[in-house]
Amino acid sequence: MTASAQQPFPADPMRDPHWWRQAAVYQIYPRSFSDANGDGLGDLPGITAKVPYLAQLGVDAVWLSPFYPSALADGGYDVDDYRAVDPRLGSLDDFDDMAAALHSAGIKLIVDIVPNHSSNRHAWFREALASPKGSAARSRYIFRDGTGPDGSLPPSDWQSVFGGGAWERVPDGQWYLHLFAPEQPDFNWENPEVRAEFLTTLRFWSDRGVDGFRIDVAHALAKDLTEPLATSAELAAEGEGLDGAHPFWDRDEVHGIYAEWRELFNEYNPPRTAVAEAWVHASRRGRYASPEGLGQAFNFDLLQADFDAVRFREIITANLEQAAATGASSTWVLSNHDVVRHATRYGLPSAPAGSAKGQDGKGWVFSGGTEPDLDRGLGLRRARAATMLMLALPGSAYLYQGEELGLHEVAAIPDADRQDPTFHRNAGVDKGRDGCRVPLPWTADGPSFGFGTGGAHLPQPDEFASTAVSEQEQDGSSTLNFYRRALELRGKQQTAEELEWLESPAAVLHFRRPGGWQSITNFGAEAVELPEGTVLHSSAGLDGGLLPPDTTAWLA
Ligand code: GLC
Repeated sequence: MTASAQQPFPADPMRDPHWWRQAAVYQIYPRSFSDANGDGLGDLPGITAKVPYLAQLGVDAVWLSPFYPSALADGGYDVDDYRAVDPRLGSLDDFDDMAAALHSAGIKLIVDIVPNHSSNRHAWFREALASPKGSAARSRYIFRDGTGPDGSLPPSDWQSVFGGGAWERVPDGQWYLHLFAPEQPDFNWENPEVRAEFLTTLRFWSDRGVDGFRIDVAHALAKDLTEPLATSAELAAEGEGLDGAHPFWDRDEVHGIYAEWRELFNEYNPPRTAVAEAWVHASRRGRYASPEGLGQAFNFDLLQADFDAVRFREIITANLEQAAATGASSTWVLSNHDVVRHATRYGLPSAPAGSAKGQDGKGWVFSGGTEPDLDRGLGLRRARAATMLMLALPGSAYLYQGEELGLHEVAAIPDADRQDPTFHRNAGVDKGRDGCRVPLPWTADGPSFGFGTGGAHLPQPDEFASTAVSEQEQDGSSTLNFYRRALELRGKQQTAEELEWLESPAAVLHFRRPGGWQSITNFGAEAVELPEGTVLHSSAGLDGGLLPPDTTAWLA
């Protein structure tokens, strides 16, 4: 029995302290979800208006990517003010209205916290620039003198995740560290003021009724910048980063920060939850997910895997073991705002050279612009099969807006319209992440397919007409109705966080959950026999008693 299985169901599910363990969480990228005021950017009233849609979809929680004031140098992950709403997206009152509407529909609310860096427009960074070298204001960030005879060379040769050097020079000659874009200066987490400030922010949103937090680049906050700084070549030679000795990725001291946060989260009833975005070696992920820390960490293994039975099984087994060892529940994710949508990934011949790239070498899968090779039908078919498998697994499943419509990555975005710094900082070689952030189609016609009356901030392709919500609602076999049914059944079948593998051919994964719910996925090229039982749902049509290739079925 797992911890959660032993808990009696509380009378009010909104009070359940374990609600997150097997939640289906829907990620909203607010600026691309729904635009209520017609300014071309999605907003909070737009989300509030779609609460009935979210309730009908059947998700347990919503995670909002940043909605804070921002110049959008990195899609909102460059935060000007952590305790305010971007006026283009609404006000704090709109936030409260949205939270109330979600809660009254039984949906929890998770917000994104970006603690590694602020934006360069944050009041503290402006103050740092206006203050002299060595000042208290500068020590909230990471300023260093340059190298070379006149200090005109950066303190080290480190590269930023988005391309280009990781140090930027300021007018008085000092340099500041930015692991991401130059508009995202890194905080100095050794400074107690920084620590206190984030506790205030976490309390601010917790007091407003937020149920949990998604922690951006959770593995980068602690840094050891003792000089001399290692060169990139020296760091690369150190290998897998399993000893916590890298100057900024995944240092052991980072957990001291999260232990402090956990104390704050536990002051609330139910305790606030958190999930770490930490691109670390699988063997070190559990530290972020410990009950004394954030409590849960994203597992990006499936998101980086090909559609392959052997690989899926290895990943599922390893992650369930790891979750059991830490006391967390496992997390599963196939798409998010940083990667090529899974319907597209599975429809490409194989991972195109150069398409996989990430923070410290493992991580994000960027669009290679390989549209001509895409088999859209196959990609979507496999995406539905993989999603259904994921939704049958113990643990929480994170879904990304638009995947319930079967959306593909939008590859055909003119260069002039691209917003992602990865595109601009890599001379356009990397297409960046805009292709999965195109505003959603709600209606088959009308301005911006019902996203809003003011156009869309990234161009939508013609195919959005047929994938719009309004169209899919009319069609019983649509991907939207497929998701709705899958989530409804998942909600009914939830049991202990356990799974039993059943015997199957090599290209098939077949398992049973407590209570008798079975999931079977055929990754192979030949149809296979369905096991005994009543079919509850399937990701594609079944062929009599056979399970066709690239299909998942659930049975009772
Ligand atoms: C995370 C976010 C990504 C952002 C980066 C820098 O990885 O998911 O979108 O660009 O952090 O904040």
